[in-house]
Amino acid sequence: MSQLSILFVTSEMAPWVKTGGLGDVSAALPAALHKAGHDVRVLIPNYPALQAAFPQARLAAQLPALAPGLPPARLLSAETDGLPLLLLDCPELYGHAGNPYLDDHGHDRQDNPIRFGLLSRIAALLGQAHSPIDWQANVVHVNDWQSAMAPVYLHFEGGSASVITVHNIAFMGCFGHEYLASLGLPQHAWRFDGVEFHGQLSFLKAGLQFATRISTVSPTYAREIQDEHFGYGLAPLMRHRESALRGILNGIDTEIWNPSTDPELVSHYAANRLAAKRKNKSALQEEMGLEVADDVTLFGVISRLTHQKGLDLLLTIQDGMAALPMQLAVLGSGERDLEAGFSALAKRYPGKIAVKLGFDEALAHRIEAGADCFLMPSRFEPCGLNQMYSLRYGTPPIVRATGGLADTVVDVSEETLANMTANGFVLRDDTPHAMWLAMERVCRSRPDKRQWLRIQQNGMRRDFSWKQAAHDYISLYRDAISARELER
Ligand code: ADP
Ligand code: GLC
Repeated sequence: MSQLSILFVTSEMAPWVKTGGLGDVSAALPAALHKAGHDVRVLIPNYPALQAAFPQARLAAQLPALAPGLPPARLLSAETDGLPLLLLDCPELYGHAGNPYLDDHGHDRQDNPIRFGLLSRIAALLGQAHSPIDWQANVVHVNDWQSAMAPVYLHFEGGSASVITVHNIAFMGCFGHEYLASLGLPQHAWRFDGVEFHGQLSFLKAGLQFATRISTVSPTYAREIQDEHFGYGLAPLMRHRESALRGILNGIDTEIWNPSTDPELVSHYAANRLAAKRKNKSALQEEMGLEVADDVTLFGVISRLTHQKGLDLLLTIQDGMAALPMQLAVLGSGERDLEAGFSALAKRYPGKIAVKLGFDEALAHRIEAGADCFLMPSRFEPCGLNQMYSLRYGTPPIVRATGGLADTVVDVSEETLANMTANGFVLRDDTPHAMWLAMERVCRSRPDKRQWLRIQQNGMRRDFSWKQAAHDYISLYRDAISARELER
C-alpha cells in the first residue's frame, strides 16, 4: 500500500502541553501512524514549552500575512523520536506560558479566534499546491474547534482531503461575524449550511460542514452526537453527514501506562503478579494523608472538575460514603464550586477522604496503581482515557454507560464473569443513589478475592494499544482522499 503524507494538526501535545485527553492522543496517534510507515507531520503552535523542548528547531519557512487579521509567522521544524514536528512560530499569539486557551484569570484568551484561525490557515496551506515547504499533505487531519477551520479553507480555496476528529462536541469555538473577513473567508460562506451557527461563526460547526470525512473518538459517541441530548445543537448536521462519520475508539500509550515498568510506582506488577499492587495502595494512602489500611476500599478520581465529569454526584452522597468501609483520593482541577466542594469534603473526613487540587501527572500514575477502584461517572464522555488506564492498572472502574465508557467497560454479571469480559461496574441510572449503590457493590465484591482478581485480570488483558485505531485512521484517510478526488 502506498505511503500517505498526513498533516496532523493539534493545539496540545503531551508531555509538553496538555489540558486533557487531546494532548495524549496527539502524542500517541501520530507516533503510531509514523510507526506504520506513513509520512506524518504534526503541526502545533510554538508555545514556550515547545520552544524550551526544541531549542534547535530550524527555520523551515517564512509565512506572509495570509488574511487581513492574520499576522505573518514562521514555520520551524524539529523532531521527536523520528516524528517530524512543524512548530508554528508567532510569539505575539503563542508566546504566553501556561494553559493554551486561557489567560491567567482563567478566561478564554481574547485573541483565540486569531490564534486558532492562523493555525487552521497554515494547516490548509500545507495541503495546498503552494505549500511553503517542500512537502504537501494528501490529507490534513484536524482536531476539535482549534484547528477546525482548515477544512473550510481547503473547501473554498482547493487543496487536499481533510478529516476532522471531534474529541468533544460541547466546545464549539464561537466568535463574531467580523472574523469571517479577518480570517480571509468569503462572505458567501455565511450560510446556515456554511460557517454560521446561531448568528455566530462556529469553528467546529464550519469544520464539520466542510471536512471530507469526520471521526469521533468512540463508536457510541458517534451515535450519541446525532441525538439532540448530546449534540449541543449540531445533531441535525451530524445526522446529515452520517455517511461521512466514523467512530474510532482511542488507544492508550501502553508504554507510558504500564504497571510493570511505570517509574512513578513503588511496586511494579502485572496481571499474573497482582499481589505486588498492594504496596502502591499503602504508599498512596501515606502520600495523601489517608489512614493506611488494606481492608477499606480505596476509590480514586483523576479528572477535570467540570459538569461533564459528573463528580458532583459524590458531593451529594457524603453521608452515604461516610457509612461505607471506603476511602477516596481525588486529583483534579477545574470549576471553582467543584474545587471548593471537594476541599470541604476532605476537611470534613480527614484520613478518609483526600483531595489534591491541581494537575499532577506523576500522582495520576500513583492513583491509577494505588486505588482499588476508579470513579468516572461522566454525564457524557466522547472516549475517556482514564478508564482505560485504570483497566490496564488492575483498578476496575465505575462508569456511566455513555460514549467511550460504554465501549470499554463491561459490567460485572454472572454472564460476563462466565465469558471473561467483566471488567468494571456500569451505573444503571443517573441518580446519586445509583452511584452510592455501585460504590457499595464494589465494597461488597472486593472481599471475594478470586472473583475480584478475575475482574482485574479481564481489564488488564484487553488490548488498548493504538494499533487498531491507527489502522482505522489510515483507512479513513484513504477513503477521504478518494472522496476528495471524486469532488474535483
Ligand atoms: P478529558 O480529555 O475529557 O479531560 P480523558 O480521560 O480523555 O478526559 O483524558 C484526561 C487526561 O488528563 C488523562 O491523561 C488524565 O490522566 C489527565 N488528567 C486530568 N486531570 C488531571 C490532573 N488533575 N492531574 C493529572 N492528570 C490529569
Ligand atoms: C476529550 C473528551 C475525552 C476524550 C479526549 C481524547 O477531551 O472529553 O472523552 O478521551 O478528548 O479524545
